[in-house]
Amino acid sequence: MTAVRIVEVAPRDGLQNEKVNVTTETKLALIDRLAQAGLTEIEATSFVSPRWVPQMADHDAVMRGLVRRPGRKYPVLVPNLKGYQAAVEAGAREVAVFASASESFSQKNINCSIDESFARFAPVFESAKADGVAVRGYVSCVVGCPYEGFVPPEKAADVATRLYRAGCFEVSLGDTIGVGTPASVKRLLDKVAAHVPLDKVAGHFHDTYGMATSNVYASYEAGLRIFDSSVGGLGGCPYAKGATGNVATEDVVYLMQGLGADTGVDLDALIDVAQWISEKLGRSVQSRVARALLAK
Ligand code: HMG
Ligand code: MG
Repeated sequence: MTAVRIVEVAPRDGLQNEKVNVTTETKLALIDRLAQAGLTEIEATSFVSPRWVPQMADHDAVMRGLVRRPGRKYPVLVPNLKGYQAAVEAGAREVAVFASASESFSQKNINCSIDESFARFAPVFESAKADGVAVRGYVSCVVGCPYEGFVPPEKAADVATRLYRAGCFEVSLGDTIGVGTPASVKRLLDKVAAHVPLDKVAGHFHDTYGMATSNVYASYEAGLRIFDSSVGGLGGCPYAKGATGNVATEDVVYLMQGLGADTGVDLDALIDVAQWISEKLGRSVQSRVARALLAK
């Protein structure tokens, strides 16, 4: 059976835009429920500036409070050496740096140019190598940018290649604003595959235009076997028209079951988590698969 790895990002990507106050206790319960549902890689939080992302200000408490289950990894996002050092001090054994394929998004998101971001990552790679900490890499805006519009696939592939060559064990391609379609995603993967082996590449699709599961499928057909997703499709803001989260983990698991691919995730347990966290956030569960299965 084909194995597909899912990197669950709800506790970080799903909650970083959340308007409802989510307690550390709820975050810890979410992470552990996801682990118990069979998710093996759960992005727990981000060690970014609390002034920029107040939702992740409890990163230290989250990392220190984790129940570390065997066979589970709890990576965290770090933008620079300061974040890396705090993350490792709090117990992180895997981190992710994040760059952008668009200059404007890089400036808005991390307050520096693409080149400057690589200069900030350099000491992170150096320390991580010495500490035996694994570094994942993200590229944002791989298809489109909220400020610049269309992003050429060559540009996204170039940043992905730089991350890979700098020492990332894997590079996740982020369609940050969910504008990708199977066609544009395939063009992107063609360019990336020329420089980075596809078994080191992950798909990170946001669902703003409803294309996320189609893009997962198109990437799977093109050879990708690693996908980032968020339980319940969490992310974005329910009050901002059109803004949505990542592809829902349950939608990916259902899709993979149909393809005969193994994710190791218990779909029923996952649906329970989707319903539980949606209730905590004061809304009904958003994903199609969860709604369909809960209606049965
Ligand atoms: P800056 O203001 O340029 O940083 O922010 P600075 O180095 O000039 O320092 C300014 C202050 O921030 C200083 O504090 C630093 O100590 C502090 P002060 O002396 O003024 O009191 N600082 C930090 N504090 C905590 N943790 C740190 C840290 N670094 C500096 N790591 C910075 C630069 C990167 C820090 C800021 O822009 C930032 O935190 N940005 C985070 C943005 C973010 O988290 N975005 C969301 C994640 S990315 C994403 O969602 C995309 C993804 O899902 C893929 C996709 O969908 O595309 C991954
Ligand atoms: Mg994202």
